[in-house]
Amino acid sequence: MQEISVHDKIFYPFLSEEEIYKAVKNVAQEVYEKFTDDVPIFVGVLNGVVMFISDFLKHYPGDCELAFVQMQSYQGTSSTGEVKKLMDLPSHLVENRHIIIMEDIVDTGNTLEALYQMLENKNVKSLSIAALLFKPEAYQKELKVDFIGLSIPDKFVVGYGLDYNGLGRNLPSIYQVKE
Ligand code: IMP
Repeated sequence: MQEISVHDKIFYPFLSEEEIYKAVKNVAQEVYEKFTDDVPIFVGVLNGVVMFISDFLKHYPGDCELAFVQMQSYQGTSSTGEVKKLMDLPSHLVENRHIIIMEDIVDTGNTLEALYQMLENKNVKSLSIAALLFKPEAYQKELKVDFIGLSIPDKFVVGYGLDYNGLGRNLPSIYQVKE
């Protein structure tokens, strides 16, 4: 794989399709082990989660349901700190159900915390968090991320659903910014 350019930045190959495939499969297996006897609802955080959630579902062998919310906190390659809710979830859909928040990437944790608080207030039965990618050095919250695909350094990445100012989501593997 070669380096690529997206807008004004150069990115190096970072995670191959095979590495991503294994990480997604492991997360699906771990989640299934915990929720084997339930019908959980996976709540995907748009837009970045599209590829992760679609591959995750293919590996999830049990009964489950799917819903989406849309949040926005990033501009360019850094978090704004302020999380905007662009699309909510009706309370009656999640009430008394096991909910798993599905994130493409957890960075500062601002998005996650805002979403967690929003869902916590909807009388859910349980609330867990699954993330394909986790940046431990950037994380600033106390909330436990229950299921993690891969922990990565605190560097901006694109591909497999993740964008840099709107571009790069359609790359099948993940690239890291050249600084
Ligand atoms: P947080 O609120 O700082 O945890 O950031 C979460 C959201 O920011 C993710 O759902 C992504 O949409 C975006 N984000 C964080 N880090 C990256 C990155 O390295 N590449 C692309 N998007 C990112």
